[in-house]
Amino acid sequence: MANTILYSAAALHTVLYVALQTSISLLSLPRLVHQHLIHNGAAAEKNYRVKDAYALVTGATDGIGKALVEELAARGWNVIIHGRSTQKLEPLIHRLSDQYPNQHFLPFLADASKSPEELKLPELLRQFKGCNITLLINNVGGLPPVKALSELTDEEIIQNVHVNVSFGVCLTRVILKEGLLARKSCILSLGSIGSIMTLPGTPTYSASKAFTTKFNACLREQLASQEPIFRTDDIATKSVEIISIIPGGVRTAMTPIDHASYSPFDGRTFLVTPAAFARATLGKIGLGQYYREIYSCWRHEFQMGVLTAFPEEWGVRAWINRLLMKAVDGPRAEGWKRLGAGWKMVDGKLVGPDTGGRKLD
Ligand SMILES: NC(=O)c1ccc[n+]([C@@H]2O[C@H](COP(=O)([O-])OP(=O)(O)OC[C@H]3O[C@@H](n4cnc5c(N)ncnc54)[C@H](OP(=O)(O)O)[C@@H]3O)[C@@H](O)[C@H]2O)c1
Repeated sequence: MANTILYSAAALHTVLYVALQTSISLLSLPRLVHQHLIHNGAAAEKNYRVKDAYALVTGATDGIGKALVEELAARGWNVIIHGRSTQKLEPLIHRLSDQYPNQHFLPFLADASKSPEELKLPELLRQFKGCNITLLINNVGGLPPVKALSELTDEEIIQNVHVNVSFGVCLTRVILKEGLLARKSCILSLGSIGSIMTLPGTPTYSASKAFTTKFNACLREQLASQEPIFRTDDIATKSVEIISIIPGGVRTAMTPIDHASYSPFDGRTFLVTPAAFARATLGKIGLGQYYREIYSCWRHEFQMGVLTAFPEEWGVRAWINRLLMKAVDGPRAEGWKRLGAGWKMVDGKLVGPDTGGRKLD
């Protein structure tokens, strides 16, 4: 009897909650139309690609960062490309310089897993003093090895927090303080749906992404504030657009799922290629004057809309979460295993050493 009452209360609560959330979501329709259909995707160039302007992209030797650099280069930008290895930075810079001879591509070598004191960011960034940085993209991020928290070492945890949090925060601080950021500029940072979805195996990653989103929201308010305590001489003259992008699944080494392994929807539903994601992300610049957090892709926003329509209570959201991730978890674990065995993620596809360099379809 007690159980029947409990189950009935849970069912009623869930139905009412979903009905209410769905009605509230309908109020977001004008925002969705504005963000995904009406907004002029060329605002990045119109607002920020002034003469001699540079974009600085962190974590840009692979995945989304590299796709952002490729897209920026194609749109005529000069780019400062951050990475941790010269082996990956140099060929990328040479290729882009050959392809776009009238633009400049500069390397920024720094291992983001080191502590900011160790990195000495102010000294490192001095080389870019003459560059007119109008767009900073805080993209660098990584997952620590996915295993039980008790199996992770302190070093793995701290390094992950440095890569996902400290590096971007301290870089932003130095760039603002040292006057490297142009008067009219944009700071765009990548969060994750991991901060909303509560994914198993990623506690430090997901928590660090929640940090990123909140950090940006607070910085946005602080830069807009007229309180004298926040208005240094330099900041007072700046107009900085701050955007947190919330990505869902993008087919990179972090989510190594390709067409071949992702059967239920053939990779077309929630998992997008880095190139498509980069295009959509740059297309959202300009919206920061109205919104704090933005999904680059409507598919990811729809996925989150479904999840957050359900209540946390009674374990309902955790159940929906598992249901949404069911088709992804297996192929993703398989992808990580393959990456460990020397495969690579190239343009959203897993390429194995046994394919002679051919992509697997
Ligand atoms: N892919 C997704 O499904 C997904 C979903 C949500 C959010 N995101 C976010 O999107 C951003 C980019 O992720 P991604 O999928 O493009 O990842 P990725 O393919 O693994 O690329 C990460 C990039 O960051 C660089 N990097 C990693 N650790 C570094 C370090 N210690 N120092 C300097 N550079 C370092 C990598 O350098 P190497 O080339 O040397 O490895 C690479 O260029 C991250 O912030 C991530 O959290 C991704």
